[in-house]
Amino acid sequence: MESGELHTSHMVVGGDALARDANGRVVFVAGALPEETVRVRYRTTKKDFATADVIEVITASPSRVEPACEAWQRGCGGCDWQHIEPQAQLAFKADMVREALARTAKIDQPVVTIGASIEPWGYRTTVRLAVDPSGRVGFRSRRSHDLVLTQACPVAHPLINEMLAVVTATRTDEITLRVGLGNDEPAAWGDTGGEIFGLGMGITHGVHAMVHEVVAGHRFQVSAGSFFQSSPAAAELLVQSVARACADIDLRKATVIDAYGGVGLFAATVAGAAGRVVLVEASPSACADARHNLAVQRADGRAEVVERRLEDWEPVDAQVVIADPARSGLDKVAVAVLADTGADRFVLVSCDAGSLARDTRLLRDAGYAHRGTEVFDGFPNTSHIEAVTRFDRV
Ligand SMILES: C[S@@+](CC[C@H](N)C(=O)[O-])C[C@H]1O[C@@H](n2cnc3c(N)ncnc32)[C@H](O)[C@@H]1O
Repeated sequence: MESGELHTSHMVVGGDALARDANGRVVFVAGALPEETVRVRYRTTKKDFATADVIEVITASPSRVEPACEAWQRGCGGCDWQHIEPQAQLAFKADMVREALARTAKIDQPVVTIGASIEPWGYRTTVRLAVDPSGRVGFRSRRSHDLVLTQACPVAHPLINEMLAVVTATRTDEITLRVGLGNDEPAAWGDTGGEIFGLGMGITHGVHAMVHEVVAGHRFQVSAGSFFQSSPAAAELLVQSVARACADIDLRKATVIDAYGGVGLFAATVAGAAGRVVLVEASPSACADARHNLAVQRADGRAEVVERRLEDWEPVDAQVVIADPARSGLDKVAVAVLADTGADRFVLVSCDAGSLARDTRLLRDAGYAHRGTEVFDGFPNTSHIEAVTRFDRV
């Protein structure tokens, strides 16, 4: 593929820097930062845009650093932003969100504020690893399906690294390692069964593995098949932000919908004192955990766990919706169902700037005005964002 020299302007959704070639065509440059001059090798070239990788930095951004991780040097695809100084990453993430809201949701000068970041290293409490035919584990490479074997990961929690150093597996293509910091409990399971070796005593294996996390003073049971945020620290930031987005509402008098509620993170904390909370969640495992985690509220009739796809749920009247969908975001059907609750306040938790912008457009069409987005860093050293957006019915 051909190479060339480019000057970048800003970061865009997906984590690449944007540049324009001599013909004005947009080029998405992986491995570049804003305001850099770089030599690139083109990966794909289309009529309207191209993608490219940095092969030499000619003028570096002051925020550029040399990635310290040895697996990154060997092409590990886990951390696409390790070349950016951790303190600078959150501002770039906020810029990405601002740009997406302006371009896709057509909001002129959207209100986007910068929240907090968790510690940039040693934070991940769940990692998913690929397994090679001889049982060794690693992460997928940046640009291919190849495996980068690894026995240490600097963004993973130290207890995960203890497992990573010794684990092998057979009869499965992928395994997940998780640690619950509530009791420092390690757990491991093969995503398609199989057997896991090397982990020694005290580690729960298999799909019935269960760990515990403590967030905002609440203890959560989290089973192998259930989603949990990247770390309890990231979960804490989200809970605080969602609470701020509802701070002007007396939740004791409100019905709150916790859509895509998982194991009950927001239902138990932000909506812990709500008049009523209805958690809607598709995963049977997460629902079982949520029923356990919300037992007190369920016992007094204030909490209900509905095990159903949101799209198939029959909406009930509510004052507040908290929705935390998967990376792909809401869709038209989900927005219509949630808008049918009649809620005046809609708090959207997003982990992708592109889907946040698309959802903002859908919500605007359903009668909700964007009031502000707070951006966090729950995934330092990657381009993943966490954002909490407040909408009001107008
Ligand atoms: C990003 S997680 C958020 C979970 C929870 N709010 C938390 O913070 O831990 C998204 C959740 O949505 C669930 N989910 C995915 N698609 C769904 C659907 N169509 N209807 C309901 N729940 C769904 C997943 O099982 C997952 O638990």
